[in-house]
Amino acid sequence: MAGLRYVQYIHMVVVTLTILQLYARSLIEEFSSDLITNLYGNPHSASTPSAIAGHRVDAIRERTLRFFGADPDEFDLVFVANATAAIKMVIDCFKDYAAATNTPVWYGYHKDAHTSLVGVREATKMHRCFSSDEEVENWISSGGFGGPRARQLGLFAYPGQSNMTGRRLPLSW
Ligand SMILES: Cc1ncc(COP(=O)(O)O)c(C=O)c1O
Repeated sequence: MAGLRYVQYIHMVVVTLTILQLYARSLIEEFSSDLITNLYGNPHSASTPSAIAGHRVDAIRERTLRFFGADPDEFDLVFVANATAAIKMVIDCFKDYAAATNTPVWYGYHKDAHTSLVGVREATKMHRCFSSDEEVENWISSGGFGGPRARQLGLFAYPGQSNMTGRRLPLSW
């Protein structure tokens, strides 16, 4: 939890990939051949299958961070079941930290956010839906007026690309 002291300044990115087209045959063949050739165990114990799984996970983590140009000293990669689980983990961390420090949580979200992000408002007492890009721009340029106050934790969520319309939102926010 010590790391969460800096949570106000963390820029979190949840990457979701929706498979719209048929998966490639080569992908399934390579994957099944990998599972047939190697025995993967629970990565948290000391046996050979566990070590194989652990090394594999480490290699995938490193490769993914490199793909995003993310310095492993500053960024970590957390594997989760799906986007909803990732979002739940983030808000659970905020709630735990808020409860431990008696700090209220403010939550803001853009109207184009996926329902999993809209649902987060139920976990907070203070929340605001930004109904347009302009409203967000005004909020940012005002220095955060109408957002979290001093001694409040703030979390703002918006989609990089709308699931509804495909419209891309500014990454600069
Ligand atoms: C923000 C967000 N939440 C939830 C979902 C639903 O996906 P999942 O089944 O991975 O939770 C998506 C899908 O694109 C998403 O972008």
